[in-house]
Amino acid sequence: MDKFLFVTDLDNTFVGNDEALTELQQTLSEHRQKYGTKIVYATGRSPILYRELQIEQNLIEPDALVVSVGTEIYLDGSDTPDSTWSERLSEGWNRDLVLAETAKYPELVPQPDSEQRPFKISFFLKEESAHKILPLLDTNLSKCGLNIKLIYSSGVDLDIVPRHSDKGQAMQFLRQKWGIAAEKTVVCGDSGNDIALFAVGNERGILVGNARPELLQWHNENPADYRYLAQKFCAGGILEGLKHFGFI
Ligand code: GLC
Ligand code: MG
Repeated sequence: MDKFLFVTDLDNTFVGNDEALTELQQTLSEHRQKYGTKIVYATGRSPILYRELQIEQNLIEPDALVVSVGTEIYLDGSDTPDSTWSERLSEGWNRDLVLAETAKYPELVPQPDSEQRPFKISFFLKEESAHKILPLLDTNLSKCGLNIKLIYSSGVDLDIVPRHSDKGQAMQFLRQKWGIAAEKTVVCGDSGNDIALFAVGNERGILVGNARPELLQWHNENPADYRYLAQKFCAGGILEGLKHFGFI
C-alpha cells in the first residue's frame, strides 16, 4: 500500500450512504495515518453550507477543502482561502458585469445569498429552459469580453465562475503543489460539476453507481480505462472503486 491523493465531491458522492460512509472514513483515516494519504473535499457548497454538512455527517477533517465549485481552496483547516489561487482567478473576472448581463434573463432565479461568492454567481435554472438559455448566455457573456465558464448540475443549479476555475483545475493545483502523480490520484463524483474532475487529466476516476444522467452521458461519450463506473451508491461505490484501482 502506498500514499495517494483522494479527492471527492460530497453531496450524493461521499455523503448519502451512511453505513458505507462510516467504513470509508475509517479506511481513509487509517491510510492517512499510516501512509500520509491526502484527503480533499471538492464541493459546490459555500464554506457556510459545507460546515453545516460537516457537523451533520461528522465528516473527518480534510487536508484541503475546495468549495464553491473550485473557486476557493482552504489548506490545513485555514479560514482564509489560498491567495495564489484567488489571484489566479481574479484576472479578467468582472462580477458586476456578469450580474448586469444575467439580470436580463427571467429564467435565472438567484440562489440564496450564502451561495453567492467572490468568484461564483449561482442561479436556479429549470431543465426545460436550460437547453435554450445556456448557449445564449454563453455567447452573450463572451461577447461582453467576459472570461467565464457556465457549470450546470443536477438539472437545476447554474454556476458562473472564472474560466480558469473548476473542481478539476483546483484538484490539479493541489496535486502539483504536493507533488503527487496523476496515477496516484483518484477523484470521485456524481453530477455535472464533477465532470471537470474527470476531464482535466488522467487521474483515476470513480463515478458512483447513482451518478446523474449528465455525468453518465459525458462518460459514455468520453470513455477511458482510468475511469470506473461503480455499481454501489455513494461511499459504497467509492470503496468499490478504490479496491478496483488497488488504492486500498
Ligand atoms: C451546491 C451549491 C450551489 C451550486 C451547486 C452546484 O449545491 O450550494 O450553489 O450551484 O452545488 O455546483
Ligand atoms: Mg454531488
